[in-house]
Amino acid sequence: MIKFNKVTKTYGDVTALKDVSFEVKDGEFVFLMGPSGAGKTTILKLILAEISPDSGEIHFGTADVIKVSQKDLPKLRQRIGCVFQDFKLLNERTAYENIEIALAVLGVPEAKWKERVDKVLKMVGLSDRKNLFPSQLSGGEIQRVSLARALVVNPDLILADEPTGNLDWEKADEIMELLEKVNAEGKTIIVATHNEEIVAKLKKRVIKLASGKIIKE
Ligand SMILES: Nc1ncnc2c1ncn2[C@@H]1O[C@H](COP(=O)(O)OP(=O)(O)O)[C@@H](O)[C@H]1O
Ligand SMILES: [Mg+2]
Repeated sequence: MIKFNKVTKTYGDVTALKDVSFEVKDGEFVFLMGPSGAGKTTILKLILAEISPDSGEIHFGTADVIKVSQKDLPKLRQRIGCVFQDFKLLNERTAYENIEIALAVLGVPEAKWKERVDKVLKMVGLSDRKNLFPSQLSGGEIQRVSLARALVVNPDLILADEPTGNLDWEKADEIMELLEKVNAEGKTIIVATHNEEIVAKLKKRVIKLASGKIIKE
């Protein structure tokens, strides 16, 4: 599903990734683990084509991510759901509306919104909190809304960047259990984290990064 071949990315003098190669197969659950500055977020941004590498190849399914045209970018990104640490929920919208927006942006017909939003709210266990605003939700609940919003577009791939970053261990476990559930339903998951405890607990494939290189698979 995802293939990096000798990818190098620099920001000015900083080499964020150096000759990174790895492959993630359909339906896999993979951790990108490493300390802050290791290059994890850079990998996720490259998959999203938010940035381009200096050299190397990146494939997402049959698509060549580096060569994808401006016109085809939305199509590529539609297949990816993102859960990022700085949750980015809209404060003046309810949990329900925050999820609905993802469908509006994609141009999904309005008649289908309610069923799809209700389905993902149920999946993350927030059906009874859907009319609350972000300020009325806990950190764990906000992160679950964020996951629901990523799921509602029905992506093939979920990218999660430090999804447990601001959460205590109990809430972090909840999020990871949800991601496992989503993975069991067939979606490919890539989680970037520096949290070794979480990685040890889940017993999934781990790609270990340090200073822009893969040091262990
Ligand atoms: N926009 C940027 N400009 C300059 N340096 C950057 C930028 N983004 C990331 N870096 C640098 O690239 C390296 C990798 O960063 P990043 O991919 O964010 O690592 P991680 O997510 O593992 O913490 C770090 O040294 C970071 O400071
Ligand atoms: Mg990061």
